[in-house]
Amino acid sequence: MAEGRIFDATIPSPVAVVTTKTKDRVNGLTVAWLSQVSYNPPLIMVSIAKKNFSYQLINESGIFAVNVLTKEQVGIGKHFGSSSGRNTDKFKGIFYDTKKTGSPILKDVYSYLDCKVVSTHVAGDHVLFIGEVLDASAASNGIPLLFKSSDFI
Ligand SMILES: Cc1cc2nc3c(=O)[nH]c(=O)nc-3n(C[C@H](O)[C@H](O)[C@H](O)COP(=O)(O)O)c2cc1C
Repeated sequence: MAEGRIFDATIPSPVAVVTTKTKDRVNGLTVAWLSQVSYNPPLIMVSIAKKNFSYQLINESGIFAVNVLTKEQVGIGKHFGSSSGRNTDKFKGIFYDTKKTGSPILKDVYSYLDCKVVSTHVAGDHVLFIGEVLDASAASNGIPLLFKSSDFI
């Protein structure tokens, strides 16, 4: 195992933009590897590659927000997933709100979860950030965007 394309085809996943805010800046990256992991307390997990700039920033800030995208937001998924915040300000011209932690909450998302990091676990070339959910949208808008076989569906 396993060529990346084959691995990506095994489990269809929702697509989200995980955002964070440090003292100096905001950033976000597109993710497909995320899940709820506990009801009490409410915990979620996002899996972030160590090479990504967001890994560094979330380690520093200890906070993140998960913005689950709708089918209409493929462009946002491509935008946050195709360049690194190391080289560019991906939030230039993007409107956002903030809730409890100050991490950006994007407009018109399917749902959001605003979290503080409670633990991290190394998993191969990724790190799992476990976040306690401090605030979340009660209602879900539209149809969620999925990722399967290296493409958006
Ligand atoms: C559909 C899709 C899903 C992705 N899923 C993940 C993921 O789960 N974890 C991750 O670390 N990167 C994932 N990526 C890659 C990052 O979004 C990409 O490397 C991004 O440019 C990193 O930005 P940063 O350096 O500003 O953090 C995904 C990209 C796309 C397009």
